[in-house]
Amino acid sequence: MYRTHTCGELRAANVNETVTLAGWVQKVRNLGAMTFIDLRDRYGITQIVVEEHSDEATKAVAAKLGREYVLQVTGKVIEREAKNPKMPTGDIEVAASSLAILNEAQTPPFTIEEVSDGGDDLRMKYRYLDLRRPPLQRAMILRHKMALSIRQFLDSEGFLEIETPYLVGSTPEGARDFVVPSRMNPNQFYALPQSPQTLKQLLMVAGYDKYFQIVRCFRDEDLRADRQPEFTQIDCEMSFVEQEDVISTFERWAKYMFKEVMDIEFTEPFRRMPWIEAMEKYGSDKPDLRFGMEFADITDLTKGHGFSVFDDAEYICGFAATGCATYTRKQIDALTDYVKRPQVGAKGLIWIRVEEAGVKSSIDKFYSPEEVKAMAEKCGAKAGDMVFILCGKKFKALTQLCALRLEVAQQLGLRDPKKFAPLWVVDFPMFEWDDETERFYAMHHPFTSPKPEDVEFLESDPGRVRANAYDFVCNGTEIGGGSIRIHDAQLQATIFKCLGFTPEKAQEQFGFLMNAFKFGAPPHGGLAFGFDRLCSLFGGVESIRDYIAFPKNNAGRDVMLDAPSTIDQAQLDELFLSLVKPE
Ligand code: AMO
Repeated sequence: MYRTHTCGELRAANVNETVTLAGWVQKVRNLGAMTFIDLRDRYGITQIVVEEHSDEATKAVAAKLGREYVLQVTGKVIEREAKNPKMPTGDIEVAASSLAILNEAQTPPFTIEEVSDGGDDLRMKYRYLDLRRPPLQRAMILRHKMALSIRQFLDSEGFLEIETPYLVGSTPEGARDFVVPSRMNPNQFYALPQSPQTLKQLLMVAGYDKYFQIVRCFRDEDLRADRQPEFTQIDCEMSFVEQEDVISTFERWAKYMFKEVMDIEFTEPFRRMPWIEAMEKYGSDKPDLRFGMEFADITDLTKGHGFSVFDDAEYICGFAATGCATYTRKQIDALTDYVKRPQVGAKGLIWIRVEEAGVKSSIDKFYSPEEVKAMAEKCGAKAGDMVFILCGKKFKALTQLCALRLEVAQQLGLRDPKKFAPLWVVDFPMFEWDDETERFYAMHHPFTSPKPEDVEFLESDPGRVRANAYDFVCNGTEIGGGSIRIHDAQLQATIFKCLGFTPEKAQEQFGFLMNAFKFGAPPHGGLAFGFDRLCSLFGGVESIRDYIAFPKNNAGRDVMLDAPSTIDQAQLDELFLSLVKPE
């Protein structure tokens, strides 16, 4: 037997017991007469002491130990003279009667402690060492517990977990697909699923009216803190439901998760906000509602006063940054630089300082104090606030102002990771126009149903059609999204037409689904949550990487496995592939 207890288990009640522990050497302190060893496993750390009167063999092993050696210790649990109240095992130590080195270790390239001295790249390369650190262990444990809770809740509601294939056909809507060449079907490719969307709809046709799956999805898209090329969804679908049924089921689920995992009780219904309101008030379809600072449209108050920047703009909007009237010129300049960065793309920033004595602004030349005051008031400013204003094309200006609102909130410490502000964003537009390709794209996906009252505009004015789609948003992150689907082959064909598919192309790509709809498709709908995002939301860390055991870096590489990598000529030949050198 390698161990009788874990390194996190022993307490004062175990004093005088003889125990055997096994783990990794975190630290060795040789004090001459005595040697202290911190022995670590995923349950905690126990202090081992090799005393002056220990036998020579034990002392000799202790003298050889290095960091991360794998060590087995047998000894008696004794009460510590100097207790450490910060450690759960801090009342005791184990007086070693024998030490056995189970394996030696090279000196690790970074410290394996709560806070490491290793940089990101180094820790990614040695991920298995990083995973020994307590923050990553906590993240893996949280993820495991959440997966259990999810399964428990959905099982209790009658959902069945059904697996769908990873080798599927390519559907080039949305993100790019990762493709896999087929050896048995030369020159043909599978794609890895971006989500099991069509398959779960087929399960509804098959009569499995409550489906879920904790499932890996693959998307070849640019990476960010909340995006990985392979990530996990909690994917769900239900039959014979309307939007309200789906939202209420998953609101109950979300409340259950908050209670189970975070011990937070939400007694009120989650807020619901139409998409257009989210855009106009917060400049985002995933507004962060942990704080206020709502936007106001001040176009009417500002245009036509000879200030060309505003006169030439389609939309002028602003918000009152709470308590920021004390901002110095330097701070305002820094925020101006912030909005002018290419990632935000504003041309400049207008400000109004609101004080008891009156208002002062960067546009005093063009407006009377009363006019400036009216703008500030419309933005909800009180004495002590600073109003920030941006202008331009409506949705562009709103999006830029959103970036500024979040930056100001960050500076003011308003983005508290321990506070949660969940909401449902509803009534999304059905389509999004793309200037570059000059066509409409589905805002959610092409299987989303339009609101019945908007169907009449599908062909005449697609831009005004709203969808039966909803997103679950918390703290400025889209955690989940879904919709009520089309279950009528004719309506589905009309939507494909709006999206610019010829009937032949639609048949080629989605024929399997439209044909299935001819065999008795029930009304259905569902949604999918991003499991990695949910973990990082609950864990209070912005990057989802910390909740994935072996994630990719920002360039989509696994630097530990050195993937992607080249394959040899024989493999290429077998797959009938030849390579083209990139330009
Ligand atoms: P959607 O594309 O909105 O919907 O994805 C659902 C949720 O998955 C998460 N997510 C991601 N997480 C990490 N990395 C990524 N690259 C990534 N992309 C998406 C988000 C998102 O809210 N089939 C539909 C759902 C449905 O209609 O039922 C779908 O995939 O949290």
